[in-house]
Amino acid sequence: MDYKRMKIDECREQVFNIRRKVFIEEQNCPENMEWDENEEKDSLYFVAFKGDVAVGCLRLRDVEPDLLKMERVAVLKEYRRRRIATELIREAMMYTQTELPNSSIYAYAQVSALQAYVSLGFTVLSKVWIEDGTFIPHQTIFWGTPLSIGAFLKHQDDKVDTTYEEYDARHPSVLPKIEAYNQRLEVDQF
Ligand SMILES: CC(C)(COP(=O)(O)OP(=O)(O)OC[C@H]1O[C@@H](n2cnc3c(N)ncnc32)[C@H](O)[C@@H]1OP(=O)(O)O)[C@@H](O)C(=O)NCCC(=O)NCCS
Repeated sequence: MDYKRMKIDECREQVFNIRRKVFIEEQNCPENMEWDENEEKDSLYFVAFKGDVAVGCLRLRDVEPDLLKMERVAVLKEYRRRRIATELIREAMMYTQTELPNSSIYAYAQVSALQAYVSLGFTVLSKVWIEDGTFIPHQTIFWGTPLSIGAFLKHQDDKVDTTYEEYDARHPSVLPKIEAYNQRLEVDQF
């Protein structure tokens, strides 16, 4: 398996093919929610290739200075449970750590995929909430440097008109988790 880092113009067809199969056909996500050209252009793609065939992908999108959002993690059904998603996520984390060391990554992870992120070091920051439109249960997850927690919270604050149910990163139940996460990082560093 080869793992490549690409811009949308280098992988548009392959990425769309995977996302159409996985999100639109398999998970019944609304087609009009799947592709946003502006978001695609602001993203860096990590794509897994078996020979010439793209079998898995994710995108890392710039949402704020020092804050990236990991989205659209998908592996074709026939290639699952071979740690392809794990490798893609790890590649994105390595890229962030080496190229953008002041940045962090957050994601709205589907609950069914949560373990893959947690085993790589992501922290779960929210209760389960149901995504508007797809009705898929999600949890908010975070990985990176405590320095960008502020950017993450501000970014969430800007989204007060969110239609997500039961979701608020500033909720009293969430803040202690951020605090614990910070303390764990501080301990790990010494
Ligand atoms: C979620 C998805 C990307 C995982 O891809 P994958 O390449 O099969 O994942 P990995 O092989 O790296 O699995 C890593 C870990 O995630 C967990 N996991 C993955 N798929 C799982 C499943 N169907 N059920 C339970 N746990 C699962 C397991 O803990 C697994 O580790 P293990 O195999 O050692 O037990 C893939 O199933 C998929 O495309 N699903 C549909 C789209 C989707 O849900 N995307 C996630 C958006 S957040």
